[in-house]
Amino acid sequence: MTNQLKVGLLVGRERSFPDALIAEINRRNQGVTADYVSAGGVTMDDLLGYRVLVDRISHDVPFYQPLLKYAVLQGTYVINNPFWRIADDKFFGTALAHRLGVAVPKTVVLPNHSHSPDVSSESLRNLIYPLGWERIVNYVGLPAILKPHWGGGWRHVHLVHDMEELWRAYDNSGRLTMILQEYIQWDQYIRCLCIGQDNILPVRWDPTRPHFERYAGGHEPLAPELHGRVVADARCVESSPGL
Ligand SMILES: Nc1ncnc2c1ncn2[C@@H]1O[C@H](COP(=O)(O)OP(=O)(O)O)[C@@H](O)[C@H]1O
Ligand SMILES: [Mg+2]
Repeated sequence: MTNQLKVGLLVGRERSFPDALIAEINRRNQGVTADYVSAGGVTMDDLLGYRVLVDRISHDVPFYQPLLKYAVLQGTYVINNPFWRIADDKFFGTALAHRLGVAVPKTVVLPNHSHSPDVSSESLRNLIYPLGWERIVNYVGLPAILKPHWGGGWRHVHLVHDMEELWRAYDNSGRLTMILQEYIQWDQYIRCLCIGQDNILPVRWDPTRPHFERYAGGHEPLAPELHGRVVADARCVESSPGL
């Protein structure tokens, strides 16, 4: 077949979703083929040739970040949008959701515990030291979650019950920018899969179960009121205070 459209995937260790996606696209045989990307040095004249790139790992492999932006320059659709990275962090995201009227845990962003050796105390003159921990902890309460403002895969996520545990975790956070967040004791954990603001599918998800069982029971219906609330919050329109 001529003019096959190509879908490329950038992945880490994960194989389950990417293998299944590639197999499904190729099985459909609709003029679209999918495969893993292979990339080395890229010149400004190289044509990557992809219609769509699916990015699952550029947060851990920085070379992929300019590569993906370069692909956009060539008209490729990149999922997720590589230019969104600069806006995407857990403090901003939480504050934005809060502003849109979505219920979120109280959250504080903290100055980094450590900096690179190039940064001397002279470079840190804008930072208040020592940190006003009392105000911070009074705001979020205890227990609380300390975690990176930009993270994934549950790495460096700490549940802290008292000041001692908080300081110990913070002292070990190194150069990561951390947020301290109100601990939410949940009884129903729901993820919303959203395509635009119209197609919203709330599914139950249970992080206490092994990886491939977390969506088991996902389609058991929610109580109607909760379903409505979750979908409205995911859509972020009705409760918006008019930004
Ligand atoms: N504020 C919180 N209250 C209760 N549990 C939390 C909170 N923040 C994180 N967790 C728990 O830690 C897990 C990982 O946190 P998350 O913010 O999703 O980080 P990551 O991006 O590393 O997955 C969550 O799925 C949840 O189970
Ligand atoms: Mg997570």
